[in-house]
Amino acid sequence: MENKTILTGIRVNSEMTLGNFLGALLPMTRLANKYSKNNQINIFIPDLHTIISDIDGELQKNLVKEIKYYLAAGLELNENVHIYRQSYVPAHSELCWILNCVATMGETSRMIQYKEKSHNGDLGTNVGIFDYPILMAADILLYDATYVPVGEDQFQHLELTRNIAERFNHKFGETFILPAKTSDQAKFMEISQESDKASGIRIRDLQNPEKKMSKSAESENSKIMMNDDPAKVTKKIMSAQTDSLGKISFDMMNQPGISNLLQIESLVTGVPLQDVISTWAGETHYGDLKKKVAASVSGYLADFQAKVAEISDEKVYEILESGEKYANEVANKKLLSVQKAVSLR
Ligand code: TRP
Repeated sequence: MENKTILTGIRVNSEMTLGNFLGALLPMTRLANKYSKNNQINIFIPDLHTIISDIDGELQKNLVKEIKYYLAAGLELNENVHIYRQSYVPAHSELCWILNCVATMGETSRMIQYKEKSHNGDLGTNVGIFDYPILMAADILLYDATYVPVGEDQFQHLELTRNIAERFNHKFGETFILPAKTSDQAKFMEISQESDKASGIRIRDLQNPEKKMSKSAESENSKIMMNDDPAKVTKKIMSAQTDSLGKISFDMMNQPGISNLLQIESLVTGVPLQDVISTWAGETHYGDLKKKVAASVSGYLADFQAKVAEISDEKVYEILESGEKYANEVANKKLLSVQKAVSLR
């Protein structure tokens, strides 16, 4: 694959779980490294999207940390990798407005995320929640992006982006490149992550291993956070829910807790899951497995945290500024062609 733009917006949270890191950030980092030689990689922080819900005053701090996480995870920078903040590229908001005048109330109010977040259109909902996917369409269309690696919950927004772009092109002349169809997006993600053992894997909640590990879990013991210290990690893993079968085997149906621990062990040590499973086959003491996993995760996080600590804020701002310079150039050019198409220029 060559000369394509791969673009994704990464929403920033206060802290990330080990599950988010291993299942999403790390695979995205590997994907970027795999394609950045011959393609453009745009990774941006959709700060304007973030403020639809949690304006908590911590966004600046959190986004710097998030970028450090990418670097510590091994993101390789070259002239094709661009990291930027959405709000530092005003063309996003500008194009969003123009697209607002092309998109319809009907198609936008069909978005599942809008329905969920607005509790089916409650009138107290802020307009940003409604407009969210149109801004997302602008994020994508400004850069002629073909592949947009996102979770399946965003596929409907990608389809909307295609529809709006197609309508615009039809009405005002060929202006936008459409992103790939969602079926092709899914294929791309599958192919690009085939050899990536972590992608698509769902680390489970330590207390309720039938569920995915989530930041919003109520119990602290349910989730391992990327900034946990060894004592915390050990306490959480030692108290993980297991079962009373008394054997260590990989069986997500009947032993989700034990299987989750084996999975985590494999991902943080880099030992293939099959090998981890055979090492523990025949063992019966869950406590021994937990101790080993606790040690592996503690070591993994300590290494990661040390790498993060080595990266200065200045380094992050340097990367952002150069990304924003690039993004403004590309986006302003596209915006001008849109403005001309609709006779605003
Ligand atoms: N909507 C995405 C999410 O909630 C974030 C996002 C915003 C995005 N703009 C984007 C992702 C453009 C891909 C492309 O996760």
